Amino acid sequence: MNEIQILVDEALKEIDSAKDSNTLNNIRVKYLGKKGLITSLMKKLKDLPQEERPKFGAMVNEAKDTVTQKINEKLKELSEKEKKQKYEKLAVDISLPGARRDIGHLHILTQIQRELEDIFISMGFEVVEGPEVEDTWHNFDALNTPDWHPARDVQDSFYFTDKILLRTHTSPVQIRTMLQRKPPLAIISPGRVFRRDYDSTHLPMFTQMEVLFVDKNVTIKHLKYTLEEMAKRIFGEGSKVRLRPSFFPFTEPSYEVDVLFGDTWLEILGAGMVDPNVFKNVGYDPNEWSGFAFGLGLERIAMVKFGIKDIRDFIRNDIKFLENY
Ligand code: DAH
Repeated sequence: MNEIQILVDEALKEIDSAKDSNTLNNIRVKYLGKKGLITSLMKKLKDLPQEERPKFGAMVNEAKDTVTQKINEKLKELSEKEKKQKYEKLAVDISLPGARRDIGHLHILTQIQRELEDIFISMGFEVVEGPEVEDTWHNFDALNTPDWHPARDVQDSFYFTDKILLRTHTSPVQIRTMLQRKPPLAIISPGRVFRRDYDSTHLPMFTQMEVLFVDKNVTIKHLKYTLEEMAKRIFGEGSKVRLRPSFFPFTEPSYEVDVLFGDTWLEILGAGMVDPNVFKNVGYDPNEWSGFAFGLGLERIAMVKFGIKDIRDFIRNDIKFLENY
């Protein structure tokens, strides 16, 4: 009987120190299995005197119950712990930074273009497009640009033939639109233009936007108001514009337009009142109709607005540059 108690004590100690359910199973087999230490005690029953047998049997059964119960308790505890460990291993740590997915954004020139389109659409202008491959009549002659003008020189433009070239500005869209429609009209035309230039402020391909407004009794005041409105919305509420006399063959009078940036005036575009000869070329009566026009370079606007120093940055595809805008 002493032996039973010793076995039970030993079993309980082993159960206590078991670290996992596998060990616990081995303990169960060791003590309670068919040939287990406690199970085997029953075999000693027949060697005992008759009167001691019931007591001994009861003690062995009690020992079995004690050990079984202890094993079950421990098993419950361990399997809960193991389950927890397993889930902890599987769990996603939401405090870790996730794998970042870089999504791109519109190129700065596309952003500027859309910004300008929004501004002019809100003032009632309509967006129209023209071809990048032009003929010299639309690109020059109809715009009152004489033969001697340097822009017509092969040194300055890309010609396919004597009469077909890559347009050097978006102004021919003025001509195409006026030939197709009757006045009044208010249009803008963004697009690519091409010149034989390449340095930190010139690209062989760049982007312009043409603005044309034709109606009765249009004056410089309308032009100036439109420029100021545009400047306010691109460069900020307090921005100022200045018109400087200049020359373009297709406007009379003509202006260079500057915006005030800090304490310096920066040139942003060319403008003017549509030349009567241009109206004649498209069949509008210059005594009846008047208008203003201007043309701006989108790269130029972006360079002024953001202080970009080299126009070539727009086409370098340098992500470090592009990410800034
Ligand atoms: N087409 C001119 C250029 O590319 C810009 C320009 C100046 C457009 C005056 C205009 C204008 O419509 O009125 O340099």
